[in-house]
Amino acid sequence: MKVYKPSLNTSVGRWAAIGPYYAMFPLEFAFQVIEKYSKPGQLVIDPFAGRASSIYAAATQGRHGLGVEINPLGWVYAQTKLKPAPLKSVESRLYSILRASESAKYKKQADKLPEFYNWCFSKKVLTFLLAARNNLDWKKNQTDRTLMSFILIYLHGKLGQSLSNQTRQAKAMSQDYSVRWWKKRKLKAPDVDIKDFMLKRIRWRYAKGLPTITSSNVRIGDSTRLLKSQVDNFTERTGKRCSLFFTSPPYYGLTHYHKDQWLRLWVLGGEEKPAWISGKHTGRFDSKVEYKELLENIFSNAAQMMDETGVVYVRTDSREFTKSTTLEILRKHFPDWKEKIVVAPVVTKTQTTILGNRSSKTGEIDIILTKS
Ligand SMILES: C[S@@+](CC[C@H](N)C(=O)[O-])C[C@H]1O[C@@H](n2cnc3c(N)ncnc32)[C@H](O)[C@@H]1O
Repeated sequence: MKVYKPSLNTSVGRWAAIGPYYAMFPLEFAFQVIEKYSKPGQLVIDPFAGRASSIYAAATQGRHGLGVEINPLGWVYAQTKLKPAPLKSVESRLYSILRASESAKYKKQADKLPEFYNWCFSKKVLTFLLAARNNLDWKKNQTDRTLMSFILIYLHGKLGQSLSNQTRQAKAMSQDYSVRWWKKRKLKAPDVDIKDFMLKRIRWRYAKGLPTITSSNVRIGDSTRLLKSQVDNFTERTGKRCSLFFTSPPYYGLTHYHKDQWLRLWVLGGEEKPAWISGKHTGRFDSKVEYKELLENIFSNAAQMMDETGVVYVRTDSREFTKSTTLEILRKHFPDWKEKIVVAPVVTKTQTTILGNRSSKTGEIDIILTKS
């Protein structure tokens, strides 16, 4: 079987790589599952879509993809890769945000931010980020969302490769830790030429063109509330039911999705110093009851959505509670289906681990259900 390998020398590969996100699928893996377990024209569903690795692989390989994602960061990346705005409109929006950033009001706002921000970014970058944060309508406007994705990708990371002072790309460290680290090394925020920096990277992304996408969508919000109606509408319109339910739910006890991305979430309108950065956040899935309810809701709905030849493919944590809960709920809702459990390979040198995602090192399993 010929398996598509997303390379950065192709349009499909370049857009697939958007953007740094915790616990994302290795790119090749998403394409392999799509090719092996679905056919062109079929419907693929992911209720925990993240940055849409599964939905994008489906959509670029002639399948229809439908997903839901609750984290605004994952969703912005997801919709940008599924529906990127034309290059020219993104460029002109960049110019208008740069012009807006010269307003005195953003300079005043920048001065009032916690110390962290002025160590992390130069004043010019900070006023640019404030202008983007105030003006980009990323929820409703495709151009604004596409530009926002580019800002978020390069928001923090290595010196020279990001808008920030030296830091990690995949994960935003705490404010106090970062400031101590920069002060000790006397590392001042770099003076980035924002227009040159952003234009170079935006144009690189478009340089191989745009991928061909089969009609697909990821909605922002809670899949326990949105998934069923989204799929029902699609089935009503097209007559298609789900052929591949391909997902990776959040893992019990690992609630990093918001915390590790607090700085990108600030640019999207979140708090400038979230309380949970200092350790107060308990996290949604420290509750076993809520975790079970979430899986119960999603997999009971999934059982109603599948077509005659459907496949359920779930990648999850191999630790006891997540694994046994997932298996128990899947067996309840897919009682007569054939079950295969595969230990997921430990990823060593993919983009995922380079970006700091070590989730597969903790041990993951793939549960594959097919109709017997
Ligand atoms: C393991 S990650 C999936 C990553 C994804 N496979 C990718 O490649 O990016 C689980 C995702 O589920 C999302 N999530 C958790 N609870 C959710 C809910 N109730 N509705 C929608 N998404 C949810 C998290 O925000 C996280 O992005």
